[in-house]
Amino acid sequence: MSLYNKAAEILDKVDQKRGAVKTLVYESKFQNIKQLFALVCETQKYSSVLQEVIDSTKLLKETKLRINLAKVLVYDLLMGKGVKCGGSWKAMMMKHRPRLQAALARLKVKQKVSRNEDLLPSSAQQAGGSKLPRYVRVNTLKTNLEDVIDYLKREGFSYQGQASGFEDLRRLSGKAFFCDLHLPDLLVFSAKTELHNHYLYKAGHIILQDKASCLPAFLLNPPAGSHVLDACAAPGNKTSHLAAIMNNKGKLFAFDLDAKRLSTMSTLLLRAGVTCQQLANQDFLKVDAHSSEYQTVKYILLDPSCSGSGMVCLRDPSQEQPEESSRLQSLAAFQLHCLNHALQFPQVERVVYSTCSTHAEENEQVVAGSLQQNPDFRLTNLLPNWPERGLPPHTQCLRASPDKTLTHGFFVAMFERHSTGAKEARQIASPAGASPPHIATSLESEKDPEGARDPEDHQQKSGAKKKKKSKKKPKIH
Ligand SMILES: C[S@@+](CC[C@H](N)C(=O)[O-])C[C@H]1O[C@@H](n2cnc3c(N)ncnc32)[C@H](O)[C@@H]1O
Repeated sequence: MSLYNKAAEILDKVDQKRGAVKTLVYESKFQNIKQLFALVCETQKYSSVLQEVIDSTKLLKETKLRINLAKVLVYDLLMGKGVKCGGSWKAMMMKHRPRLQAALARLKVKQKVSRNEDLLPSSAQQAGGSKLPRYVRVNTLKTNLEDVIDYLKREGFSYQGQASGFEDLRRLSGKAFFCDLHLPDLLVFSAKTELHNHYLYKAGHIILQDKASCLPAFLLNPPAGSHVLDACAAPGNKTSHLAAIMNNKGKLFAFDLDAKRLSTMSTLLLRAGVTCQQLANQDFLKVDAHSSEYQTVKYILLDPSCSGSGMVCLRDPSQEQPEESSRLQSLAAFQLHCLNHALQFPQVERVVYSTCSTHAEENEQVVAGSLQQNPDFRLTNLLPNWPERGLPPHTQCLRASPDKTLTHGFFVAMFERHSTGAKEARQIASPAGASPPHIATSLESEKDPEGARDPEDHQQKSGAKKKKKSKKKPKIH
């Protein structure tokens, strides 16, 4: 099916409340998911503008197109790539182009604006993903932070040092960029910075990854040499982040149910220089937690399928549909099942659970259900200075959102085994198994609430590490 038909079909399903955009796009099995996702999101974002253009030109009457297909085609013709993938649609749309262009121009004159984005309702302009900063994770398997900064400076980008607060990031414009204020090896650029064609991206030296999606691997923080499991791994951004944290040392078991996504993941991991992985096209729920192969797994990252309601997706919030409760319930049941399964691995010490959903049903409620069923585990109090917390009483968890953290909507919880016997065994087995510096376990924070280190502390540590690293030969040419 063509790109346009597929995009229209997804918009029809969204209108019928049959799912969130992200899930429907992934489920579509379309060969170019990224292209489809972008087209659906952009069409949805400009939906009210496109409707006006279509109505004022009587396009539906003249072409017999159905509304969502017309919106997709008009979007691509006037604001996108010009119906390049159009086949027979192209000729039809070219015929109507002058009238459609004139209608769009009239709208701009009427609203006294010159740019397409200024036509958007102000709520969409504020919440739009296009306003989120561009986050760039430096892939330390291939290079280091200093070399990337130097490279970009030579290209005319203007390095501003480490951001001191969210305000710095909100004000970003032009070619200025910062080091992130929470995560090491993360650079932050203005929203419009386009790096998909950049050499550093194509060579796998940088990875374009939203800040919130960098949290799970950063928080899990598996030491080099450890055995780690990524339960729902494709397309693998978090897997490659884990491998970078482990410096490719140890073993990284990665599972995904979807063969196509797993094959894309293989390519991405190759480009990122990941070598410690063992990929399997397998249902995580059917992985035998007691198999001898996984007896040494101490760290699990679980980022299961979710409603995707946190993906800002450039959409007009006034058009958002409430999620169907039966769908949320079945997603939550699946997520709880996965989380309980992850906690069954006999030697597991830490499990990070994350979703890009904003619904408590998929987040705090899943966490609460799992805590109840797994009394050997408790939540870790994550990044004490992070501004957006899990809903009470699960404030040890993190939430993220465009408004408060300048990211997509996201949720992260970390479970840590706390039963005495297991703790002793862990200390004997692995002296390196202490909490990473950027977290405080609930136990620790109960004892000493001030004792938890803050993110700046962690930053200083990572800064020191980087100084050492910068003596390495530059790897970027
Ligand atoms: C949110 S995505 C994971 C994104 C990934 N962690 C990343 O950072 O790139 C969820 C993934 O879970 C996979 N999945 C769904 N059910 C699964 C199951 N039972 N076992 C393994 N993978 C599953 C989906 O195919 C999808 O690729």
